[in-house]
This record gives sequence, C-alpha cells and structure tokens, in this order.
Amino acid sequence: MTAETTGTTPAYDEHADWYNDFMSAGTAGAYIERVHATIVELLGAGEGMCLDVCCGTGAHAPALGGLGWTPVGVDLSGGQLRHAVRKLPVAQADATALPFGDGSVPAAACVLAHTDVPGYAAVLREVARVLRPGGRFVHLGVHPCFIGAFADWSDRPRVLLDERYADRSRSFEAWNPAGVRARVGAWHLPLAELLNATTAAGLRLVRTAEAGPGGVPDLFGFLAVKD
Ligand SMILES: C[S@@+](CC[C@H](N)C(=O)[O-])C[C@H]1O[C@@H](n2cnc3c(N)ncnc32)[C@H](O)[C@@H]1O
Repeated sequence: MTAETTGTTPAYDEHADWYNDFMSAGTAGAYIERVHATIVELLGAGEGMCLDVCCGTGAHAPALGGLGWTPVGVDLSGGQLRHAVRKLPVAQADATALPFGDGSVPAAACVLAHTDVPGYAAVLREVARVLRPGGRFVHLGVHPCFIGAFADWSDRPRVLLDERYADRSRSFEAWNPAGVRARVGAWHLPLAELLNATTAAGLRLVRTAEAGPGGVPDLFGFLAVKD
C-alpha cells in the first residue's frame, strides 16, 4: 500500500526542522519527560529490535534504548528522517506497509502519531503482522477524550469540550497556535474506536496509562501483546 492509497503524504517534510527543535526545546521539556516516563512504564525492559513506528525525528530513541531495546525507526517523511538518522537506524516507509517480515519483530512502539494518519487501524494491523508471537506493542498518543479540535485548554484548570468529539476528520483547529495540530493538522480517533481497532488487529490489551499536567490527562497509551 502506498502513501497515495492511504491518503497519507509526508506532511512533515516542510516542518521537520521546526519539529526537531520543538521536540528538543525546553518549552516542551515537561511534556516530553511525561511521554518518556509513560513509554518506560508501558514497554518495560527488553532486548532486540523495537520498531519505532512513525519515528519522526527519533526523539524517543534514547528512551527505548535506555530500556535495553535496539530502536529502529520507520517514517514516511524524509525530512524527519534526516534528523532521526543521528539517533537510530531508519527506513523510509509507510507504516501501513512496514518493510519487515511476518512475525519478525519482538517489540514496536508508535508514539504521538495516531492523529497523523487517516487510518490508524491499518497501522495497527501492520504492527500485528510484523510482531512475533508474544511481541509487545506500545501505543502512546494524545488523549482521544481530551485533546482535539473539540477541546480548549486555554482556560486551565477548566478544560472545555464540545460536541465535535464525534468528528473524525482532519482539522487544523487548535487552542494552541504554537502546537503541532495548528501547523500540520490532525485526525481524531475516538477512544472506543482506537481500542476496538487494536483488539480487531489481533493485539491483546494488557495495560493502559494516562498522564497529564494536572487532573486532566493529555496522553493516553497502552501496552498490547500479540498472543
Ligand atoms: C507528530 S510526528 C511524531 C513523531 C515521533 N513519533 C515523535 O513522537 O516525536 C508524526 C510522524 O508520523 C509520520 N507519519 C505520518 N503518517 C505516516 C505513515 N503513513 N507512515 C509512516 N510515518 C507516518 C510523520 O511523518 C511524522 O514524522
């Protein structure tokens, strides 16, 4: 399956330098620390390859490597991979057509990327195909219930949600004009659809996690295993 057939284009090519700075910057530091702590909590220590699906600039390679895994990145965007190659071996490929054989990969993670693909279910099916039996998959993304075009965090501690939770279309609408969504756009996948797509792909949910800056979580993730 190609980028054309999934409706996906390397949207990050023109934003790669900005994204690399964004993921390294002090301003996003607490957020990135939260992301890494949640990856560590869900994935746990292990050995062998951990596929970093939609690896972007490779920001999570140190967290994966710190757990003992050998991270290998896959991303559609050559611009993003230009930064990632400094941190991990990479392949330029569509996450819905991973360049790995059936049952060949002991672990995989997809971080902050499910809102960047129009059909995340196809990515989950592909991850399930390449994982070996017993292989672990960590999904970590923006929290489907509290982050999206329908959510306004500008008046914290109040977080305002509206009825567009049901709208799955791509949107650039964002309360934060300096964030990824306003710049690159994002799709929305309601929570039940995310979890149902995971189990439908043949992955068994083992553990879930939420994390946030206060009482409302901005991250949701899970560990799933291929039985
Ligand atoms: C928000 S970035 C996240 C990157 C990285 N995981 C991180 O957390 O910093 C989303 C990434 O998904 C990639 N992407 C989007 N659709 C893709 C696809 N179909 N196959 C592979 N990568 C894709 C983009 O190129 C981009 O690098």
